[in-house]
Amino acid sequence: MKNILCIGAGYVGGPTMAMIASKCPGMAVTVVDVNEVRIKAWLSGKPPIFEPGLETLVKKSLGKNLFFSADVAGSIEKADIIFVSVNTPTKTFGHGAGRAADLQYWEKTARIILANAKTDKIVVEKCTLPVRTASAMERILHSGPGSVHFEVLSNPEFLSEGTAVQDLESPDRVLIGGSNTAEGQAAVKMLVDIYAHWVPRDRIITTNVWSSELSKLAANAMLAQRVSSINSLSALCEVTEADIGEVARAIGMDSRIGAKFLSAGIGFGGSCFKKDILNLVYLCEHYGLHQVAEYWKQVVVINDYQQERFVNSILRSMFNTVAGKRIAILGFAFKADTGDTRESPAIAVCRRLVEERAEVVVTDPEALDNARHDLADLVGKVTFEPDPYKAAKGAHALVVLTEWKCYETLDYACVFKSMAQPAFLFDGRRKLDHDKLVKIGFNVHVIGQSSMIRK
Ligand code: NAD
Ligand code: UGA
Repeated sequence: MKNILCIGAGYVGGPTMAMIASKCPGMAVTVVDVNEVRIKAWLSGKPPIFEPGLETLVKKSLGKNLFFSADVAGSIEKADIIFVSVNTPTKTFGHGAGRAADLQYWEKTARIILANAKTDKIVVEKCTLPVRTASAMERILHSGPGSVHFEVLSNPEFLSEGTAVQDLESPDRVLIGGSNTAEGQAAVKMLVDIYAHWVPRDRIITTNVWSSELSKLAANAMLAQRVSSINSLSALCEVTEADIGEVARAIGMDSRIGAKFLSAGIGFGGSCFKKDILNLVYLCEHYGLHQVAEYWKQVVVINDYQQERFVNSILRSMFNTVAGKRIAILGFAFKADTGDTRESPAIAVCRRLVEERAEVVVTDPEALDNARHDLADLVGKVTFEPDPYKAAKGAHALVVLTEWKCYETLDYACVFKSMAQPAFLFDGRRKLDHDKLVKIGFNVHVIGQSSMIRK
């Protein structure tokens, strides 16, 4: 039986290891984390993160060949393969602040592995790291007095939140980077064999370590770039009577462009797009590639612009003031089907509305606890309400910031009657039936198309 260890029981470590345990019953999978509260939640069978299908997946293997523990040091020696899936946020201090990846958590894990490993290990970078980090990892791991050999592989994760279980079950590809030595290739083969329990071989691709590390940053940058590209065009649609939905459909049918990731909206959020692009920008600057850095920086610039533009359109439409007006925010998560609010556009939008002295009330089916935490400094200025009907009652405007399905089926006629008049609806996700809303009596403003105003 192979013993697999994963350090970091977050959005990636927990679901990924639950999938490996479920597909490889002959392997023992242990996930460790310094955060005991998280570990307790995993052990209870109710994961600390909301992700469709995850609870069932975890329960399938929990206690059989899937284990969670807060004993990081004590779990290292018995592992053959150690995945490192700790957080790698943007640095907030010192050199490279606001761009470079903060590698302190990653380095701590390298040192704890070194201090506790007495036999050879394969160490797998699961977290997203700057290109050439593996060589730093190898230097730290081999800086000890012993003769233990550590083989470092890169195996970035491509799952998306909200569809993590589905993405892990049937990934577009699994990417494994290893060094071109005999030990490196043997380690790559061992990892390929694990994934081959359920992923077709032709979807498991192997490369050198540096290509693998860079491919992860590049994939996120390209995806985010598509979102910023379509959002930049949404601004042009709003002033020209073109409709971004129609434009996206027309261009997406070109098989060279493809239809995915062309939904215009309030901008991308989530813990990774912004941080990974900023990391890419930092790397380019480090290597003197200033034009390349500038090019990618614009993806983030447009994303910020989209959010500011949206708030300005709320202000303009509501007679240039929202002071003292109740505004109901429908959805706070960065996308539907997750409770995650990291870098959610809702944070910036709510903050701007509070600056304009609006009375903001936030509703969301899964993300209210995180929303309370994100806006903790705005006590008394923002309220939180699980029931969207109660949130909308007495409001001057509804602002849709997350594309939760439940907001498509609200009884908007009833909502409209409970609101202050004239009632406004701002759709930052373009999922509602706008014609119907206009018929009910709303003034409807949708990103990427002309406003639908009641005369
Ligand atoms: P996360 O913050 O949810 O989880 C990271 C966990 O690591 C935390 O629970 C933290 O307590 C733990 N940790 C930190 N230092 C530790 C240490 N020294 N020992 C033990 N545990 C430690 O982060 P995440 O969203 O799971 O992301 C992890 C990595 O995967 C990041 O590099 C991210 O860029 C990448 N990634 C994330 C996603 C996603 O959808 N969230 C997708 C693909 C890749
Ligand atoms: C993204 C990538 O899709 C994953 O492949 C990657 O593994 C992950 O980042 C990561 O490295 O963390 P995620 O952030 O979970 O996954 O979710 P996405 O579906 O990519 O959405 C990101 C943001 O872009 C969301 O705010 C979403 O609403 C927005 N988006 C996405 C749009 O505005 N329009 C689109 O057409 C698509």
